[in-house]
Amino acid sequence: MRIGILGLGYVGLTLAIAASDKGIEVYGTEINPHIKQCLSENKAHFFEPGLNAIIRKVNNKNFFCVNSFPQNLKFDAFIITVGTPLKNNKKQPDFEYIRTALKSLKGIYSGNELIILRSTVSVGTTRNIVLPYLAEISGCPEDDLLVSMCPERTVEGKAVEELTHLPQIISGNNETALNIAQNLFRKITPYVIPVDSLEEAELVKLYCNTYRDMTFAIGNAFCRAAQMFGVNGMDVIKHANQGYSRSNICLPGFVAGPCLEKDAYILTNNMENCPSKEFIMFGRKFNESLENMVVEWVEKKIGSGDGKKIVALSGLTFKGIPETSDLRGSSSIYIARKLKQLGYVLHLHDFVAIPEEITALNLGTYFESLYNACDQALLLLVLNNNRKYADIEKKPEILNSKNNFSILDTWDICTNLKNETDINIYTLGNMYID
Ligand SMILES: NC(=O)c1ccc[n+]([C@@H]2O[C@H](COP(=O)([O-])OP(=O)(O)OC[C@H]3O[C@@H](n4cnc5c(N)ncnc54)[C@H](O)[C@@H]3O)[C@@H](O)[C@H]2O)c1
Repeated sequence: MRIGILGLGYVGLTLAIAASDKGIEVYGTEINPHIKQCLSENKAHFFEPGLNAIIRKVNNKNFFCVNSFPQNLKFDAFIITVGTPLKNNKKQPDFEYIRTALKSLKGIYSGNELIILRSTVSVGTTRNIVLPYLAEISGCPEDDLLVSMCPERTVEGKAVEELTHLPQIISGNNETALNIAQNLFRKITPYVIPVDSLEEAELVKLYCNTYRDMTFAIGNAFCRAAQMFGVNGMDVIKHANQGYSRSNICLPGFVAGPCLEKDAYILTNNMENCPSKEFIMFGRKFNESLENMVVEWVEKKIGSGDGKKIVALSGLTFKGIPETSDLRGSSSIYIARKLKQLGYVLHLHDFVAIPEEITALNLGTYFESLYNACDQALLLLVLNNNRKYADIEKKPEILNSKNNFSILDTWDICTNLKNETDINIYTLGNMYID
């Protein structure tokens, strides 16, 4: 089997490498020169456990990063994995990348190959945007074409493992498309779930992420409400869940990253007049409001920014478990931008992010050491849940030596530090208790 993959970002590259590792011949195209350069050096452009080892094994053997798909080869399928960001101030999904990717198939796509959409899209996109466009570039009637929507559901930081284990949602515009897509994904994982329509596959993906978004929103809302009664919001949730399986309330925290920040918008984008839209958007907006809550707390704690007050921010990637180097859609970056605008001087640290990417954001000075980042700072904001924060408990004396210094430990990770230092340590659970 030979396939072409358009886009070698997080989704495209991990899929390309997993597929070629299973013996499928994979050709991938990518427009970002940095990604191509990394691949020519046998490595990925991002941190993903296990990925580089397989790249070294398959690169230029049955995985080929090419500028365009070879015209003399016959392909069974092309998979579109380009980004689907939001435009217009986070309101509308931008499907232009998909259109451009499809356009690049002109002259190679004969109308016989299966086109698989892997990117996250609003319901109806595969049938109403992709299919007519394919008919236009191939000159074939829509009914003769083969289209599938097979969404990606891996989590960054565990994608290599999950691609061969997670159930793959498979759909097709007809029986043939469904069968080819099933055959393809069965080579990668034993577990495929054929669904009834392209629209159902689109919805499955959007439901998976929006469900997570909304359950986190409940944790965030409960945490905030508890503090109105003088109760620690994190403790009450932990105690409500403890030994009581009917409660599984999420602990509070930022709900961000390249997928969760947008998928509720992509879902509700064409849900006008549906009462569910308001319900879903309420949860999304509540999660977003956490970022401003932290900024307001900083102002309240140390006063307005004056071009001199230093705030250390650590945990800039959008999550710490599993570890990722991805800064896209990170609440930490939003908070850093806001604080910089307000006149604070920022010291930036992260355990995993690529230092050049942090520096390129132009938001503050990058520090390799967390302790050095805290030097002269009035506050340390611990913004993601990387397990390495537990290590700061091993050197409490370093932080203890600072005057007028507080920590906002948003994920309540430096738990033992509270007993070992005189530093004021706040969490999302008590930051609003006066
Ligand atoms: N990141 C994740 O873990 C994840 C998980 C599930 C679903 N998704 C969805 O998958 C899609 C891709 O996400 P991603 O994180 O991989 O994005 P990404 O930005 O990392 O990757 C997309 C890649 O496509 C390339 N590209 C754009 N136009 C191209 C073209 N015409 N030809 C060739 N390459 C082109 C870009 O340069 C980029 O490298 C999105 O819809 C996203 O919502 C992502």
